[in-house]
Amino acid sequence: MRNSFNFFTFFLVCYPILTASTVVFNVLDYGANGNGQADDTQAFAKAWVETCASLSPPTMIIPSGRTFLIQPLRFVGPCKSNSITVKIDGNLVAPANPYSWRCDGNVCHQLVYFHEVYGLTLRGQGVIDGQGQQWWQNRNLYRPTIMEIANSDNVSIDGGLTFKDSPSKHLVLNGIDSLSVSNLNVEAPGDSPNTDGILLQYCTNVHITTSRIGTGDDCIAIVNGTSNTRIDNIVCGPGHGISIGSLGRNGEEDKVEGITVSNVLFKNTSNGARIKTWQGGRGYARDIHFEKLWFHGTVYPIIIDQFYGGNQYTTSEHAVEISNVSFRVMVGISSGDDAVVLNCSKAVPCKDVVVENLHVVTAGGKPAAYGCENVFGRALGHLIPRLSCLL
Ligand SMILES: *[C@@H]1O[C@H](CO)[C@@H](O)[C@H](O)[C@H]1NC(C)=O
Ligand SMILES: *[C@@H]1O[C@H](CO)[C@@H](O)[C@H](O)[C@H]1NC(C)=O
Ligand SMILES: *[C@@H]1O[C@H](CO)[C@@H](O)[C@H](O)[C@H]1NC(C)=O
Ligand SMILES: *[C@@H]1O[C@H](CO)[C@@H](O)[C@H](O)[C@H]1NC(C)=O
Ligand SMILES: *[C@@H]1O[C@H](CO)[C@@H](O)[C@H](O)[C@H]1NC(C)=O
Repeated sequence: MRNSFNFFTFFLVCYPILTASTVVFNVLDYGANGNGQADDTQAFAKAWVETCASLSPPTMIIPSGRTFLIQPLRFVGPCKSNSITVKIDGNLVAPANPYSWRCDGNVCHQLVYFHEVYGLTLRGQGVIDGQGQQWWQNRNLYRPTIMEIANSDNVSIDGGLTFKDSPSKHLVLNGIDSLSVSNLNVEAPGDSPNTDGILLQYCTNVHITTSRIGTGDDCIAIVNGTSNTRIDNIVCGPGHGISIGSLGRNGEEDKVEGITVSNVLFKNTSNGARIKTWQGGRGYARDIHFEKLWFHGTVYPIIIDQFYGGNQYTTSEHAVEISNVSFRVMVGISSGDDAVVLNCSKAVPCKDVVVENLHVVTAGGKPAAYGCENVFGRALGHLIPRLSCLL
């Protein structure tokens, strides 16, 4: 009696500890085929139900060496554990034909959607292929994103995941406090429409690092509600560069602050460091710092455009206020004529804009051109071109 009591106590106390790191839910155990043909959506959904219900920190496994055909999947929390790992080592593929996608309602928003999954870690070396080719040709359809993670804190993405050929944006990160992304690859053709690599909105305390992003739109776009964000060690291209905005569309009030972007190589992009806002908007983009950016064939290496979506004649008395912005150590070759374009409005000029140590030449080796409208700040250090509008 006494012995069995001790054993029972041991079992009760230690069993959860011993098994804490070994709770795995493999999609193959829930009926997934992984042959790239059969629909594996239900198997993933069942594996998620058990993953999310696990008290011990669970790992949902999508094993390597297989390709899983999936329809739009919703991974909805909150889950029992606040540490959930999804290990994607196999490949995920969306239906190639847009009309074969099965969505809630008639509109497809995401292939994979995580909502309120706190402490989510996505790892693995898998490829998630959105098969966007047919979507890109049919501009009348509302095009879905490959993945959105929304209203989830403590999110981490690592391990070498690849997102490719999304119908629209690749990875939307929306409403996350404490987010880290590293070793991510995003690949889509330079002429694929609106295929942003990463879109950040309502995110705080963010670090995106050591990633390679080439698409037909912004490599990274940072929009309303985002603050305290660091982006570094990125190779961007082809694409439209790293953008703050667009902000203030349709008179909206948007706020972005505390963004640092450093050590980025832009290869064959239309922009490098960009801030774009619409006339008539409100709010601000402030405390934004770009440092050590390298350009290899960039049309507008540095651009602030307060007239986005219009032209200088669309000017309004309102605009998103732009202040405390710096560009330090910007080096490379412009594929257009310009190195720097700072276009701000008379009614709401850009303030405290600093350019320090700039060396941008044209493909022919001449100092690139520059233009400033309604910008206050200063230029210092080595300056090619001379940027006399800020001296
Ligand atoms: C996020 O992580 C921090 C530190 O580990 C923890 O204190 C906090 O409770 C977590 N938040 C959520 C919503 O799980
Ligand atoms: C640059 O990107 C464009 C658009 O994607 C592409 O057509 C062109 O071949 C690329 N050029 C180089 C030099 O990579
Ligand atoms: C932008 O975010 C702020 C909160 O950060 C919010 O109050 C505002 O409504 C948002 N703007 C739009 C256009 O949604
Ligand atoms: C400019 O931005 C930096 C970094 O966010 C911040 O530390 C500094 O206080 C800001 N300066 C002003 C004048 O707001
Ligand atoms: C910047 O503004 C000038 C003058 O308003 C305009 O001619 C030019 O096209 C603008 N450049 C860009 C890149 O928007």
